[in-house]
This record gives sequence, structure tokens and C-alpha cells, in this order.
Amino acid sequence: MISIKSEREIKGMHESGKLLASIHEALRTFIKAGKTTFDIDRFVHKMIEDNGGTAAQIGYEGYEFATCCSVNDEMCHGFPTNKKLQDGDLVKVDFCVDLNGFLSDSCWSYKVGNQKHDVVDTMMKVTQEALYLGLEKAVVGNRVGDIGAVMDAHIRPYGYHMSLDFSGHGLGPTIHEDPMVPFTGIEGKGARLREGMVITIEPIVNELSRYTKIESNGWTAKTIDGGLSCQYEHTLAITKDGPLITTIQEGEVLPFAKNPSKN
Ligand code: MF3
Ligand code: CO
Repeated sequence: MISIKSEREIKGMHESGKLLASIHEALRTFIKAGKTTFDIDRFVHKMIEDNGGTAAQIGYEGYEFATCCSVNDEMCHGFPTNKKLQDGDLVKVDFCVDLNGFLSDSCWSYKVGNQKHDVVDTMMKVTQEALYLGLEKAVVGNRVGDIGAVMDAHIRPYGYHMSLDFSGHGLGPTIHEDPMVPFTGIEGKGARLREGMVITIEPIVNELSRYTKIESNGWTAKTIDGGLSCQYEHTLAITKDGPLITTIQEGEVLPFAKNPSKN
């Protein structure tokens, strides 16, 4: 069942999203060579709690960490580890915040260090563009297929592959609610977007093929071929004025006619 949120709920989810976004903003300078993904997890967890929130992923279906930290060929649900990050690593940090009972969910990709890395740089740019194109389709009356179709069409010319094994989702009261919001799709098909729905858009883009293998921990998804994987995710509410991106970060510029800036 797809739930419709009240104005009060959307306001609460927006506050939750602002806290989440501020943590990603802080990670921009926190993540560097020599840090571990455990350091990232502790940093995120502390910042959530220092600001009155709780780490909503802990205990979700038995997951034990505040964050998923997925490095290079890890697609998603990476466990934090004590391995030191190195220049050129591609780290995806994904977490959910609960603030006063209201959820937000956002994954961001980070390159370790400032060195140029053609594949990582291109994947980050193209995946983020795919997310923005998807967000642009998140308007009342469109369907989830419109979102997947435009995202997939954007990454294909680069030879990249959307994962078919994961998808965006409705958010609230739990982390994964209807509808599913796949990363591929057919225009005009799938669940219709209505005012008051809150969903995530979170394309997972693979370098070499779409296929997944799951690690022995039962959670972590990796590319089957060792190729890189990149992901960006925002939470948004469908409003009559267009998508309200609850997790939008400082400095993000979106290719919208009406730019939903951070406020
Ligand atoms: N944040 C993830 C998502 O985008 C949720 C991960 S589920 C967890 O859907 F259990 F790993 F937390
Ligand atoms: Co999500």
C-alpha cells in the first residue's frame, strides 16, 4: 500500500532530511586516505545522535550499523571495516536518519583524494546526472517508469549498466515502503505519483555489467566482475509544486526550471 503523507509529516521528514544532508556535507572533508569506513560510521552515528536523531538502519531487518559504506566494486549494503581508504577509492555512504519519528534516506558517492581518476570521475558525474533527471520526472501524474526510463537512457551511452537487483522505494513509516522505484523502466508505466507520496530515487550504476553477487555476510552486494559501482540517492516528497528534495545539500545545483534550492 502506498501511503500519502500529511503536510505535518512532510515537514517532519524535511527536518530529518536537513540533518542527514548536513552530515553528507561534513563527510566531504572528513573522508580522506587513511580513514576507515568504521571511522565514517562512527562520525555519522555521533553526528546523528548529537543532533537529537537516531540511526534508523540499526536493527532494520537485523542490520547492525548506522551506515552502509560500500567501496569500489561493492554496490550497496557494505559493512563498515577497519581497512584504510586509499586515494582513488570510490566510497558510497548510505544511511537513514530518524528525527522525532520522521525518516530520511540518502546515499552519496565520494572519491578519496583529489587526484584525477577518469572512470571514477565519469561514473560520479553520470550517476548524479541520472538522479537529477529522475528527480525532474518526480511530479504529480507521472509514473515510476518515467523515472527509471530517463535514468537508464542517460547512463547507457557511456556503456554503464543500471542494477536491476535493487530499487528506490517509498519512505515512512518504515525504511522500505511501496512503491518500488526501479532504476530502469518504461515511460508511462508503473505506479502513478500522487501528491503527498514520499519516495527515494537512488540509481546504482555499474561500470562493466549489471550483475550482482552477495557476500557471505548475507548483505553486501558486489559487482560480479569486479567493476566499479556508483550510487547517489535523495529522498523527496511529491508536491503540487514539484519534488521537494528533503535531503538536498548545500551547493547542489539541479537542472530544474524551478530550482528547489536548500532552505
Ligand atoms: N539506505 C538504504 C536504502 O537506500 C537502506 C539500507 S537497508 C539497511 O534503501 F538495512 F542496510 F539499512
Ligand atoms: Co533508499
